[in-house]
Amino acid sequence: MENLVEVKNVFKTFDTKGGILGKKQNPVKALKGVSLGIKRGEIVGLVGESGSGKSTLGNCILRLLDTDCGEIFYDGKNIQNFSKNDTKIFRKKTGLIFQNPYSSLNPKMKIKEILSEPLIVNGIKNKKQKIVMLNSIIELTGLSPDDLDRYPHEFSGGQRQRIAIARALILKPEFIVADEPISALDVSIQAQIINLLLDLKHKFNLTYLFISHDLNVVKYLCTRVAIMYRGEIVEIGETMDIFNSPKHEYTKLLLNSIPGVA
Ligand SMILES: Nc1ncnc2c1ncn2[C@@H]1O[C@H](COP(=O)(O)OP(=O)(O)OP(=O)(O)O)[C@@H](O)[C@H]1O
Ligand SMILES: [Mg+2]
Repeated sequence: MENLVEVKNVFKTFDTKGGILGKKQNPVKALKGVSLGIKRGEIVGLVGESGSGKSTLGNCILRLLDTDCGEIFYDGKNIQNFSKNDTKIFRKKTGLIFQNPYSSLNPKMKIKEILSEPLIVNGIKNKKQKIVMLNSIIELTGLSPDDLDRYPHEFSGGQRQRIAIARALILKPEFIVADEPISALDVSIQAQIINLLLDLKHKFNLTYLFISHDLNVVKYLCTRVAIMYRGEIVEIGETMDIFNSPKHEYTKLLLNSIPGVA
């Protein structure tokens, strides 16, 4: 089967300014020749230490960041060559779920306004259609239509993440980058959000790139795992192969450092 997402030898460097004089510092090489294929329906885990380039890769795939060189294909098309219309369709078909449900929802907006934003951007103006879509996604994510008239501060962290997931899924996308979607949440509700993501994957036939520090969750959730280390994918394979017979020294180190992984 052809890959839904195909990353080919991508490089990304950040020029940084630092210090009180804003002097130019050495550029940060965040991605150093990354290649990765994601098949339709897969959940690919992306694991690695802080600063290894995971979010940068996710953002490049979603075209939220430009790459320096290399190519990224979505459904066979090079995303750098997208027309305006291609980009519009791409925005509809893809979504991002962030780590922190406290900062990702505008506190001044009601839930219905937050969830309506993607509809407005995509020109869905019909009031009845909007209400149907809002009610349907809010129920699918385990909240109630009554919640649409409330504000983010009235919800718990787990509920806010459900709202963020509803916003990412309201246009029925096919590919989602979930960037540490549970790491800011209480341990007791992490499993609920993971199971919600799995449930929605089956309902919407989704494909996920799942970025995480939590190897236990990755083992439970992902079909394949990619291990990132200092801007490179040093190992990639079926989840069980990675856990049972890691090849790269860094993967071994990572697995040994996690309590409770057999
Ligand atoms: N906008 C930016 N400007 C400058 N440097 C950046 C920027 N974004 C990321 N970086 C740098 O690029 C490198 C990779 O960052 P990235 O956020 O992709 O790491 P990560 O693997 O997602 O880390 P974490 O697990 O902490 O989220 C880091 O050294 C980071 O400081
Ligand atoms: Mg990150």
